[in-house]
Amino acid sequence: MAKLTVNDLALQGKRVFTRVDYNVPMEESNGAMVINDDTRIRATLPTLAALRAQGARIVLAAHLGRPKGERVASMSLRPVADKLAELTGQPVAFSDDCVGEAAEAAINNLQDGEMLLLENVRYHSCEEANDSAFAEQLAANVDVFVNDAFGAAHRAHASTVGIAEVITARGGQCAAGLLMERELQFLGEELKTPDKPFVVILGGAKVSDKIKIIDRLLEKADTILIGGAMAYTFKLALGKSVGDSLVEPDKVDIAQAALDKAAERGVEFLLPSDNLISQMINGKWANPELNRAEDIPDGREGVDIGPATAARYAEAITGAKTILWNGPMGIFEDDRFAKGTMAVAVAVAAATGAGAVSIIGGGDSVKALNQNGLAGQVTFMSTGGGASLEFLEGNELPGVAALTEK
Ligand code: 3PG
Repeated sequence: MAKLTVNDLALQGKRVFTRVDYNVPMEESNGAMVINDDTRIRATLPTLAALRAQGARIVLAAHLGRPKGERVASMSLRPVADKLAELTGQPVAFSDDCVGEAAEAAINNLQDGEMLLLENVRYHSCEEANDSAFAEQLAANVDVFVNDAFGAAHRAHASTVGIAEVITARGGQCAAGLLMERELQFLGEELKTPDKPFVVILGGAKVSDKIKIIDRLLEKADTILIGGAMAYTFKLALGKSVGDSLVEPDKVDIAQAALDKAAERGVEFLLPSDNLISQMINGKWANPELNRAEDIPDGREGVDIGPATAARYAEAITGAKTILWNGPMGIFEDDRFAKGTMAVAVAVAAATGAGAVSIIGGGDSVKALNQNGLAGQVTFMSTGGGASLEFLEGNELPGVAALTEK
């Protein structure tokens, strides 16, 4: 990759400001905040091990939630420091503030190979404003910048971009962490010239969220499989009835343009041929049933792909050499509507076992694989949400652009 990575640096005794994405789901239990999913913390362990092995003094910085410049207690990173200590078996110091005297004292206390986690950078509104004076403060007591926060790389904030500019301006190095490197490798390089057949599976609620990705992937994919509510906007474009399904009527033209481009380029573009439908009664999904017809009756919403579609999609996935999956096939949080997403997850895992490279574009598809215990059976799962989508759209991420060229 064209950017420096931690493996290119000599870090013995250096104070390394390491931006990570520890924006992990938490919930309150008995008056304490408990981490529900530590995937993002685990994903940084190789970088931390590399920094420790080099004798770096590791200053970790992250955001949690969107506290908008306030010290919101439920968004403190303190539980993350404890979790990190548990996962690494090493002590992790914690500073109540990411800048100022508290941070300076905690950084000065660090010995080679030790770790410190700074409190939520978003407790300061200057962080999201990418305020240059705040970036100077973040950079005040460190020598090197490492960015391992792929999930926050689409944000041009002080701890992702501003600090890199300060360190670069004073002749310092700014490098990608190993997670960042892997994310860019799989979501970027691997998809430039994918082994064929290249099968893309896209789901989720909105066509508008994915349209740029669809357009870009239509240049490369052999097959595109569509599920989730976004399928109904495509159905609408084809003149089908979609009942009360979630649709974007103003995006029908865009959907039609994608269908036309697929036809022109000979890309197989599959939409569900059957669906599970249901209706919302008093805030609850009721009367789920299988709808084998192409049209969905009035008063009903499509909530999952049906078994015939799931089988057809699984067949397409089975022959793939490269797979990219982003977005669930239905409302998989409800067990009754999770079968389509589950069938795709199983097919992707099986194809990976048979030699395909499978890349999971973050968010709900990762959740679905975790739910089904299949997370270890795919090639790569992105830790990004919005960042993965922006990167797959082909955009340069500001947090990556700010790093030092090799
Ligand atoms: C994420 O969870 O996608 C990242 O941590 C970015 O969070 P944000 O959308 O609040 O910037």
